[in-house]
Amino acid sequence: MSGQRESIHGQWSSRGAFILAATGSAVGLGNIWKFPYITGENGGGAFVLVYLACIAIIGVPIMMAEIMLGRRGRQSPINTMHTLAIEAGHSTNWQYLGWLGVAAGFLILSYYSVIAGWAVAYVVRAASGTFTNASVEVVKNVFIQLVSDPEKLIAWHSLFMLMTMFVVARGVQGGLEKAVRLMMPALFVILVLLVGYSMQNGAFAKAVDFLFKPDFHALFYHLDGHGKEYFSWNGVLIAMGHAFFTLSLGMGAIMVYGSYLPNGTSIAQTTFVIALADTVVALLAGLAIFPIVFANNLEPDSGPGLIFNTLPFAFGHMEGGTLFGVLFFILLTFAAWTSSISLVEPAVAWLVENIGISRVRAAVITGLGCWAAGLVTIFSFNVWSDIKPLSGIKIFKDKTIFDLLDYLTANIMLPLGGLLIAIFAVWIMSREASMEELDMGNRFGYKLWRFLVRYITPVAVMIVFLNVLGIISLK
Ligand code: PHE
Repeated sequence: MSGQRESIHGQWSSRGAFILAATGSAVGLGNIWKFPYITGENGGGAFVLVYLACIAIIGVPIMMAEIMLGRRGRQSPINTMHTLAIEAGHSTNWQYLGWLGVAAGFLILSYYSVIAGWAVAYVVRAASGTFTNASVEVVKNVFIQLVSDPEKLIAWHSLFMLMTMFVVARGVQGGLEKAVRLMMPALFVILVLLVGYSMQNGAFAKAVDFLFKPDFHALFYHLDGHGKEYFSWNGVLIAMGHAFFTLSLGMGAIMVYGSYLPNGTSIAQTTFVIALADTVVALLAGLAIFPIVFANNLEPDSGPGLIFNTLPFAFGHMEGGTLFGVLFFILLTFAAWTSSISLVEPAVAWLVENIGISRVRAAVITGLGCWAAGLVTIFSFNVWSDIKPLSGIKIFKDKTIFDLLDYLTANIMLPLGGLLIAIFAVWIMSREASMEELDMGNRFGYKLWRFLVRYITPVAVMIVFLNVLGIISLK
């Protein structure tokens, strides 16, 4: 069936190209910037354990479902859902699942680009030797000066958004495929090098303990405004939300990439490779950062600035640190770049399909919109940094507008999108269709996938949602 449909946007040149592009989408700021700081904020080991469990039992099956739906529909997620719903004899309202994803991608890119802008800014700072022999205070100050200056942030955000739109405008195979091929292995090598540095010079054992010794008290108990402890599932939701975020799931990015996947490629195998690469990068980032945090009495829960306050310090004190520092931030920029293009691809593909405008035009329109929305994030690091819109709610008491935007997208919109994708893939779509598209050759594999997506994934997502909302309370 799927062989009859063709994507008007073209196809990946090979299975390897798809793996690179999807890994490029998955590996990004989520792994290197976000994973360490949210692990720090949520107490370490237990958080990591829940995150890993979510990758395995929720992330992997949903990624397979998304690729499968994308390849079968061969259009933007909105139109894919529309087509597949008709094919299954169900309501075309399923297309709104595609809209939810487009909205999530738009909102995520609006802040993603701001943070990626920090990475670009740090290429310059590292190159000019700012960090050579710098003390922890100096390194911290460089960060504070950057984020407290809206003009600088706007400049870097604009640059990054332009870079993103440039690639999106050029289409599916337009050059980035090659860049990813080089950049991903290089990023990996630098991370391993950094872990090596941290092993020798940081508090490595303490970091390993922190990351891998589960302390469930630290995950479930938080302090309220009066210094009193309260119990909440919020940390679990953040771990689950991050599993979606880091694998680019729940908003159609992987679905639209799947729509460019040649027939006959094993979806299960490619998913496994992508998820594994993504997880390894996140764990390496943690192992590089926390030893430096603990050796220098930095706060593991210091928030979004964590990697910018730790890694430059390491670069400033190691042999060849300027070179490695520059390289690292270039690679981080690339990792963010290959993710950001996938955040807008669902919207751009839809504009091309339904409004009939060119890819270039579609990229410019979405880019301008995301750029403007990004100003909200920029201001919440400086002029609006004291605005905590939901400070009346315990779990949101310290959250800025940026924090809330991140929370809404990663912890609510993506898991909700993922939940609906799971429901569609196994309750709406026919068994024959999914079996044919996944083509696993091995009946046990298909049965396991179906069981996970049918029962485990939706139930797990619902349990976490209901607990955070306080509708049920498992203690
Ligand atoms: N997976 C990306 C990262 O970890 C972010 C992303 C989320 C990209 C959702 C696409 C879709 O940085």
